[in-house]
This record gives sequence, structure tokens and C-alpha cells, in this order.
Amino acid sequence: MSQRFDQLENRRQFLRFMAASPLLVHGAPGCFQLGADGGAITQPKDALNVFDFREVAQKVLPPAHYGYLATGVDDDGTLRANREGFLKFQLRVRRLIDVSRIDMSVDLLGVRWETPIILAPASSQKAFHPEGALAVARAARVKKHLQVFSTVATSSVEDVTEATGAPVWFQLYPTNEWSIARRLLKRAEAAGCPAVALTIDGQGAENRETAQRFAKLDDRNCETCHDWSSWVGIVERRPMFDGIDVSGVIDEIPSDMDWDYIKLLKDTTTMKLFLKGIVTREDAELSVEHGVDGIIVSNHGGRKEPSDRSTIECLPEVVEAVSGRIPVIVDGGFRRGTDIFKALALGANAVAIGRPYLWGLSAFGQEGVEAVLEILRRELESIMRQAGTTSISNISRAHIVDSR
Ligand code: FNR
Repeated sequence: MSQRFDQLENRRQFLRFMAASPLLVHGAPGCFQLGADGGAITQPKDALNVFDFREVAQKVLPPAHYGYLATGVDDDGTLRANREGFLKFQLRVRRLIDVSRIDMSVDLLGVRWETPIILAPASSQKAFHPEGALAVARAARVKKHLQVFSTVATSSVEDVTEATGAPVWFQLYPTNEWSIARRLLKRAEAAGCPAVALTIDGQGAENRETAQRFAKLDDRNCETCHDWSSWVGIVERRPMFDGIDVSGVIDEIPSDMDWDYIKLLKDTTTMKLFLKGIVTREDAELSVEHGVDGIIVSNHGGRKEPSDRSTIECLPEVVEAVSGRIPVIVDGGFRRGTDIFKALALGANAVAIGRPYLWGLSAFGQEGVEAVLEILRRELESIMRQAGTTSISNISRAHIVDSR
């Protein structure tokens, strides 16, 4: 009896220690976050920060689906690096500036957006909520954010465009077949997409251990819903591939894709071309040389290459190479207004988020996505005020200390 009591007391002390841990408070990767009252939130308005939605997502999703959402590559080193990278930069805040009015708006391809926060493309959103990308699109419409639509979304580009009420950007997985890439591009153009983001970080099969571990906890028979054993199995159920013969699809991007392919794409589409997955100065320079219209600094949220390098640390060299000639967007691990502020100070034009809005979607559908966007907007506005920056263009390298 007393041994049992000791065990319980130890457990209580451990939980108290964990609850007070700064790692949890700041949402360190891999750590479970306690909700506002020590348990999961039950309504979006109770969330203190975006991590509160992660806890609900983990509770409500089948383990295999949560694992797909949460996973990085190998043992999640790049995923962790994306969060830890932010700690290598601190903020230099200025005082005694009139901050009664804060303007967070940015210009992207001639369109003025209320904030620099973009919704990154994500596949399979119906695995997180029955309304999937349509719920996200409705939230994007209400909160007025740019949404980037994934080739392998579980909704069509036409339906998502209708739900956002404004053109979305198209993310392209061209597959290994050029005729398919061409058809996807033409369909996106016809839907009114002004830009296409070609994802270029998919070369080489990734080993996602967290996804595999969660899948083992799932006792449902996944094959009754979908076939993930091949690319044919994946794309044949995706609306963007309706009416397309997908029998020859063996990959999301051609394994011989190089800079000639970029030229071919540019010559084929009228959409502005962004490359999603640039992480070095060399490739940033080549992008500008090859007439690319914009860059997304990304490592796919730590899900593709096990580089153990955060995107916030890749950003400065890309910005330097581009030297203002084309817009630079960054994603990977953005969870706080301060994270967004740091990227803007390092020269990004905008920031994209992936998992935070997918946590919101999983937890509460459209309302959850709206709440996540509201929290990040509020946090960004707050740090802009605290730093004495009244507009995005006021945020500069002078507001950051690089402690790498
Ligand atoms: C993604 N991402 C992604 N990227 C892409 O180009 N096409 C896609 O279909 C997907 N699908 C996808 C699914 C899921 C579940 C996740 C979590 C991510 C990557 C995404 O666009 C973005 O680069 C990262 O999500 C950004 O990192 P954070 O914010 O998730 O840390």
C-alpha cells in the first residue's frame, strides 16, 4: 500500500515538474504540452497558444493519422531542429516609439494581404477532419489568408477556390510523367491560380519512423480506406488526378528533375513559378538565374531530408543570395508570433504554417483553423508593438541578434 502511495506521489511530483518545465511552456518538439487547465481544451477560445490544438489533435485522431501529421524524417532530427533554430536568434526591441497603430499587411505578387501568414500546402486533410481542405479554405476566407493548395489534396482546386472566394496558389507534385504535370498545371491555371509552387525536396524515399510507430498503435484496417503502398494507390484517389491515367506514376517528382525541368515548367505555364524547398545560397542564386519568380525556404516541416538544419538558419543565406530580386517565403516550425517576427527580421517576405492549422483543423474543423490564425496574428501584432515596429517593412536585421 505504502509502495503504491510512493509511486503515485512520485508520479504527481513528476507531472508537477513537467508542467512547470520551460520546455513544455515553450512547446519544445517531442514534448507533450499540458493544456490551459492541465487537460485538453474543449473549445477553440480556451487555447492559450497553438500547441493547445496539438493536444486535442492527438486525442481525437486515429493514431495512424496523428502519426502522419506529427512525423518528421528518421528520428525527427530536422523536425526538432526547425524549432530549436529559433532560439539561436534573439530580438533587439526598441522603446519610445508610437505603436498605437500596427500595420501587418504585406504585398505578394501585387495582392495586399492583411498579414504575412500563409497556409502551407498539405495533403490528405480529410484524414484530419471530414471537411478537410474546404474547412481550411473557409477559415482562410474569414480570416483573409493566402492558402496554398496541394496537388494531393483530398478536395479539388475548383472547390477550394470557390470556398476561399479568392484564387489560391497551386503546389505542384509533377509526378514522373510530364503529360500529367502539364495537365495539372493547365487545370490550376483554369481555376485561376496566379502562382505555382513546385516542391523540389521529394527526391529519395524518406524514412518516417514516428509515423510508423503511431501506425502500429492503430488497430483499424487502413487498406479499407486507402492504399499507401504505391504512388498509383495514392494519386488515383485524389481529385486532381480525376480523368488522368495514373498507371505509370512511380513518384511525386521525377528523379532526374534538374534546372532544365524548371525552364520547361516556366515555358509551359502562365503562373508565377515558386520553388518550394530551397535551403542554400547556391540554389537561391540558380533560382534567380533561371527566372524563378519566388522561393519558399522549406524542408517540408522536417519530413523529407535528415539534414538536421532548421529553415530559420537557412533563411539568411538565401535572402542574401536573392538580394531582394524575388520574394522569399519560409516555413518550418513556426508556432509563435516571435518566430514569424524573426523570419521577417531576417528578410523573409512572408511565413507559411503547416502543422499548427492542421492541429486546429483536427481539433475543431474550420473554427479551429480560424482560432490558430487568430492566435498567431495576435502574437505577431503584440511582438511588433513590443519591438517598436509599426509595419512589416519596419522590421529589419537591426531587430535581431544572430547567436549562431
Ligand atoms: C505537408 N507538407 C506538404 N508540402 C507540399 O509541398 N505538398 C504537400 O502535399 C504537403 N503535405 C503535407 C502534409 C502534412 C501532414 C504536413 C505536416 C506537411 C509540408 C508543408 O507544406 C510545410 O512545408 C510544412 O508543414 C511546414 O512546417 P510546419 O509548419 O508543419 O512545421
